[in-house]
Amino acid sequence: NNKSVYDYFDRPLRDLRISVTDKCNFRCTYCMPAEIFGPDYPFLKRNELLSYEEIERLTKIFVHSLGVKKIRITGGEPLMRKDLAFLINRINSINGVEDIAMTTNGYFLPKYAKELKAAGLQRVSISLDSLNDDVFGKINGRGVPVKAVLDGIDAASEAGLKVKINMVVKRGMNEHEIIPMAKYFREKGHILRFIEFMDVGNTNKWNLQDVYPKKQIVEDIHKVMPLEPVDPNYTGEVASRYRYVGSQDEIGVISSVSDAFCSTCNRARLSASGSLYTCLFASKGHDLRDVIRSDKTDEELAKHVASIWNGRKDQYSVERSERTSKREKIEMSHIGG
Ligand code: GTP
Ligand code: 5AD
Ligand code: SF4
Ligand code: SF4
Repeated sequence: NNKSVYDYFDRPLRDLRISVTDKCNFRCTYCMPAEIFGPDYPFLKRNELLSYEEIERLTKIFVHSLGVKKIRITGGEPLMRKDLAFLINRINSINGVEDIAMTTNGYFLPKYAKELKAAGLQRVSISLDSLNDDVFGKINGRGVPVKAVLDGIDAASEAGLKVKINMVVKRGMNEHEIIPMAKYFREKGHILRFIEFMDVGNTNKWNLQDVYPKKQIVEDIHKVMPLEPVDPNYTGEVASRYRYVGSQDEIGVISSVSDAFCSTCNRARLSASGSLYTCLFASKGHDLRDVIRSDKTDEELAKHVASIWNGRKDQYSVERSERTSKREKIEMSHIGG
């Protein structure tokens, strides 16, 4: 069964990104600034979270009746949730799931990489914004040293997971780390993706002047190690790809701000509390938790979600302006990027 549903702009639904917790052990300044996400922050309580059984049921419906093929597990930090390998295993046993990936800060990978791989996880995107302990410790808000993440990267690789590295670039924060990071991960053989600082949520004091744009990132690297563009791996790929001339080594740049990619966006996001978001920058989600806790059948649920997707008109990055950036938006830590 591979039914497709299309939105208002004819974009199919293919990719489901599932947040399993809104908690994180880091406090990255651009995501969960410590002064806002403090000891009294009202994180979701256990009964507000979707259970693994509920996530499995929803995922099945998305895959069997709505055209989803790719699953990505996110957070907050997904490995803060207990027994994550159990959930991966359940998702892996759903017929029609072609790809299971996870976005993580890497900290817990030395502990869990092997069991995640055994459960069916194929790929991880690990966030790292600097190779310098002072710079990185400040960015992550908890003084976590670079080595903790590098150990996670090695553990993932050794477990046989495919690894990509995500680096958020923010002007005045870490643009001087672009070249060292590029050299290091080229040498290591991992694809590094540079992400423009985005106006997600309402707490990270985003400002257009702080965006270090794709063009500049590529120019900086090109001066030291010449680059050439490469075609996307698949329609709707978020990152623009570049290859180091004369090699197979590549990088990616994710340019939500300077070069929007909404026209091919086939991603839906399910928050840890069971709300469906049809855009990373949405103000409101569509609650599915109460719906699955009612007596609706799978078929009725599928119809409900299809009608949400059919009405989807989101293209935030295309419409972004000074005014839209002030709009009320969901926090990144609730839907995981
Ligand atoms: P692949 O499946 O390997 O192509 O990975 P991906 O790029 O979809 O996944 P990943 O979670 O690593 O994405 C990296 C970052 O790109 C995310 O954390 C977000 O910051 C950003 N991103 C992903 N999807 C979108 C999107 O639909 N819109 C915007 N504006 N940014 C996105
Ligand atoms: N801008 C760009 N990327 C961000 N991320 C979190 N917040 C932002 C932001 N404001 C990144 C993380 C991680 C992924 C989930 O999204 O670093 O790689
Ligand atoms: Fe945690 Fe990732 Fe957000 Fe940093 S970017 S605070 S590691 S969820
Ligand atoms: Fe998709 Fe919204 Fe990102 Fe555009 S801004 S690519 S519609 S998630």
